[in-house]
Amino acid sequence: MTKKSTILGIESSCDDTAAAVVRWDMHGSDARSDARSDGSAEILSSVVQGQLELHHAYGGVVPEIAARAHAEKIDVVVKQALIEADLSLSDIDGIAVTSGPGLIGGVLSGVMCAKGIAAGANLPLVGVNHLAGHALTPRLTDQIPYPYLMLLVSGGHCQFLIVRGVDDFTRLGGTIDDAPGEAFDKTARLLGLAQPGGPSIENEAKSGDPTRFRFPRPLLNQPGCNLSFSGLKTALLRTRDQVIAEKSGLTRIDRADMCAGFQAAVVDVLSEKTARALALYLAENPAVRTLAVAGGVAANLAIRGGLESVSSGFDTNFVAPPLALCTDNAAMIAYAGLELFASGASDDMTLTARPRWPLDRISPHLTGSGKKGAKS
Ligand code: KG4
Ligand code: ZN
Repeated sequence: MTKKSTILGIESSCDDTAAAVVRWDMHGSDARSDARSDGSAEILSSVVQGQLELHHAYGGVVPEIAARAHAEKIDVVVKQALIEADLSLSDIDGIAVTSGPGLIGGVLSGVMCAKGIAAGANLPLVGVNHLAGHALTPRLTDQIPYPYLMLLVSGGHCQFLIVRGVDDFTRLGGTIDDAPGEAFDKTARLLGLAQPGGPSIENEAKSGDPTRFRFPRPLLNQPGCNLSFSGLKTALLRTRDQVIAEKSGLTRIDRADMCAGFQAAVVDVLSEKTARALALYLAENPAVRTLAVAGGVAANLAIRGGLESVSSGFDTNFVAPPLALCTDNAAMIAYAGLELFASGASDDMTLTARPRWPLDRISPHLTGSGKKGAKS
């Protein structure tokens, strides 16, 4: 038996309005238990409409502006995803939508749109946890089996997760304050660099000396896998002000050296904490040796390099999806929806937006809300 399933995914939890169509060929009668082992998913389209310029003047994402932009753009983006996939709604088998966590106004836009389409076209509907979308991406891109260790590292999130199934996650640790992408963005702002800060800092760091300024490695001396990034940004602010006071300004070299020093601290912290998380994961799963990374910060080559060498030290496979699938997109939501539908999950018209929705329902919260909404 072969069953094709074509899912429309919708994502609007932060500052990207996205829609995508993903098709999954399920082979065999055992498709429900783990179709991944026996089928393949194909991205037929993935449309992402960013809002960077709308928030530019405010130095961060403004929830009300984001919500309005999502409401204005979401149906256009959905139409575009269907056009690019060369399909119409009658070819779609189900709708998957991010129903949390995130900025409530944006999530509501996506959920209302998805409910409208599902009701109008009489299609099944499933709400997807945005973090699950990120965490399952290596299964979409690299067909990796469960379980694996995931480092989810973005502008709004940072956590180590053991991923055992579409709805089976254990958090080993995470940030207790800022996410790393948030630290990159704030640091770039302090140095007068363009947003998003990650690529700007990575670029500046290429010509910088990472040893000239020594920034702290927060929580490195404490046991466990929790991380902290807010002190790093404060240390950089102090260094910047000191250099400005001494020399009445910053030279390009000063700036590049600060970027290199900052990035080196982030690499050290993420590498060391990943080594600890990997040791914990492998103690439980010695035979399935996979470390995967997702989220926008995973685009950073120095960070990827650090993680790759940790991974090879443990004789573990390292999986890092392409950038377009690391940052927010709807293909990951459609894919997670496919796995959810295959597991028998679905939602009805009572589906609501959830601003906070931890993947690991047992571990206690680590952080409050950040500039991009609830972090866990
Ligand atoms: O996953 P994402 O698109 O959005 C969420 O936060 O959910 O990640 C965006 C974040 C931004 O903070 C951006 O500065 C960071 O990812 N980022 C990077 C790089 N590219 C993007 N951080 C460090 N180095 C990069 N090359
Ligand atoms: Zn995200």
